[in-house]
Amino acid sequence: MTTQPKHFLTFADLTCDEIGYLFSRARLLKERVHMGQYANTLKGRTLAMIFEKASTRTRVSFEIGIMQLGGNAVVLSGNDTQISRGEPVPDTARVISSMADAVMIRTFQQQMVETFAAHSRVPVINGLTDEHHPCQVLTDLYTFFEHRGNIAGKSVAWVGDANNMLYSWIQAASVMGFNVRYAAPDGYRVDLSRLSENEKDCLQWCADPADAVRGAAIVTTDVWVSMGQEAENEKRFRAFEGFQVNAELMRHAAADAVFMHCLPAHRGEEVTADVIDGAQSLVWEEAENRLHAQKALIEFLLLGRIKTD
Ligand code: CP
Ligand code: NVA
Repeated sequence: MTTQPKHFLTFADLTCDEIGYLFSRARLLKERVHMGQYANTLKGRTLAMIFEKASTRTRVSFEIGIMQLGGNAVVLSGNDTQISRGEPVPDTARVISSMADAVMIRTFQQQMVETFAAHSRVPVINGLTDEHHPCQVLTDLYTFFEHRGNIAGKSVAWVGDANNMLYSWIQAASVMGFNVRYAAPDGYRVDLSRLSENEKDCLQWCADPADAVRGAAIVTTDVWVSMGQEAENEKRFRAFEGFQVNAELMRHAAADAVFMHCLPAHRGEEVTADVIDGAQSLVWEEAENRLHAQKALIEFLLLGRIKTD
């Protein structure tokens, strides 16, 4: 009997208890690397990565991450694979998963990673689709845990486009028991038909960004134009005017609120330089933590929980 691999395709693939384990494991792996100690838990294992969109953080953190655990990475960019010439995704999944031990995919449609996973013998990780970015939100919540502790019962404010990041935040809110209040202009709001009843209960829309931010523990935003939406540049710039995180807006958040952004950021558009480069910003910690949170994730998908001394 073959057991089905465990995938991470959306944030809802993890339970709150599993996330608690991942946070403690990520913290340990991070502390050890900072002391120059590298784990060897994935010695000899290979992570295959398929990139159909650009990346800096995801590429570097997964590639260095697997190496820090004793394994190797194979990186395929969109045009390097036969997928770009029409080879069916199920065929590609069967072949790559017969050789690699895990697969990370960054692509356009969520359906592609779901189809790949359905035909894969090994764990598949979503490294960003048009619909979700679960590795980033897992890391952001780990970063909050490091700096502020438990997120349960708190409020996260999202200002701007209802994009892949926001949908992963909403799923995380449902799994981990916090609220998301978001401000977005008409035409760029969350499609409620994509949410479960529980996810809808965790979400509140506010017309005014100040109402979304009021009392929030985390204030977060993302680019107004995501990868693949470049043709909508001008229209989006007009629509999102007034949906910028700036120092005046941050004043409405909790006194110890942190600012988060998955990066890359556009200073002067969705966030001002004084906020992203200011004292409340955790953006560089979030970026570094991609490495440690994802190491814990890959280990978990391949080996289950690691007993630590
Ligand atoms: N935040 C993030 O996923 O960055 P990259 O696009 O550089 O991978
Ligand atoms: N929403 C952005 C995130 C980039 C990491 C995009 O999809 O381009």
